[in-house]
Amino acid sequence: MDPLRAIKGMNDLLPEEIGRWQRVEQVCARMLSLHGFREVRTPCVESTPLFVRTMGETTDVVEKEMYSFEHHGDALTLRPEGTAGAARAYVEHAVHAREAVTRWWYLGPMFRAERPQRGRYRQFSQVGAEIFGDEGPGCDAEMIDMLVRLLGQLRIPGVEVLVNSLGGPATRSRYRGSLLAYLTPRAAALSAESQRRLQANPLRILDSKDERDQAAIRDAPSIHEFLDSGDREHFAKLRAYLDTLKTPYVVDARLVRGLDYYTRTLFEIKGAHDKLGAGNTLLGGGRYDGMIADLGGPSVAALGFAAGLDRLLIASDIDASTKLIDALVAPVGAGAIASGLLLARELRAQSIRCEIDTRGSSLKSQLRRANQLGARLVLILGDTELADDTVQVKDLDAHTQERMGRDQAVRVAIDRLLAASRNVDSAAPRPNGEPT
Ligand code: HAM
Repeated sequence: MDPLRAIKGMNDLLPEEIGRWQRVEQVCARMLSLHGFREVRTPCVESTPLFVRTMGETTDVVEKEMYSFEHHGDALTLRPEGTAGAARAYVEHAVHAREAVTRWWYLGPMFRAERPQRGRYRQFSQVGAEIFGDEGPGCDAEMIDMLVRLLGQLRIPGVEVLVNSLGGPATRSRYRGSLLAYLTPRAAALSAESQRRLQANPLRILDSKDERDQAAIRDAPSIHEFLDSGDREHFAKLRAYLDTLKTPYVVDARLVRGLDYYTRTLFEIKGAHDKLGAGNTLLGGGRYDGMIADLGGPSVAALGFAAGLDRLLIASDIDASTKLIDALVAPVGAGAIASGLLLARELRAQSIRCEIDTRGSSLKSQLRRANQLGARLVLILGDTELADDTVQVKDLDAHTQERMGRDQAVRVAIDRLLAASRNVDSAAPRPNGEPT
């Protein structure tokens, strides 16, 4: 029988990797809460029309990458992103009636049936945030600046910020016409994929990495020629705010991104190519001022971003703590196990992370395990200790070993371990600056 394996592009995260994931997630959550975002959790499954209507019928995600299925007559889809679900929840719960501006963040698994490669998976995690009720461009600049700081705290090198403006729907439709007129006579020179896209979604051709497409669009008209005065002013203010904040960015008039809901501000942040390869886009986002009204809500402006956590993990130089426990309780001989269980419970009540070996292993093998788990203290219970209610406290950092009463052993553990963990905490990234 063939062994049963995980689905291609969907990965297990084993405990040895979880430490780094949790650190990155904590840094993200702290940064978002510092900026007033509150966590929201929406379902992993939504109705298929939600994604088709918001992301656009002719986008790659909707055309080819959604995990859609029918269940009891309902068309359902595993969410490929978080924005549509957040917007649906915002409208469904009439959140606009309770607050003028809403700042939400989320973190969780997303699903896209893409060709798996490094940094591109079929189940991946995004951390993202959405602001409803602020037309910007101040909050657009604030979000981009926050993201640059976040990537700094995650120690991600080679960060490059690209910004663009797509204007409103009228601007886009005029630009689409002009791009179509420019590309149609050049259609034969385009890649097969772009020839197919030409009528349905010509803006996506600007995104193509294919050399034939790149050559064909070299002298194509720029969206900036089509922006109306409101769009232009919005974009100019965004750039001025970024300049004031000294947030580095590059204007890329060809940046369109893969989803149809965007209006005005668009941005992407890339990381160093050497670690991430072709999929070096760490995060992307922008405005989608029309979505809330399209979903049946009031006319409320919206802006957001999402970052691929898998990619942040690949790009980040943050280490996980190698100290998985603080202490190991080591009963030597089966007679000491009950006493060891009690001691382990006392230590845990004092917030000391500890493990106990209940297999009756030799002291040598228990010491090996303590080393493996990064424990500083080993609390040894042998026949002598059982007889006079003492414990041998072995300190693997200080290279000492002392016999003492049980109560004193617990006090010593608290002193040495909790003081040490306070020092570890103070080495964590600071809320307002770079990691120390
Ligand atoms: P997106 O550009 O489709 O935007 O995805 C955002 C990020 O998710 C990407 O930059 C990438 O890091 C990560 N990502 C996407 N697909 C994969 C994959 N197959 N494997 C690993 N990582 C992936 C959105 O999803 C929008 N909802 C962003 C947004 C929020 N716009 C406004 N608000």
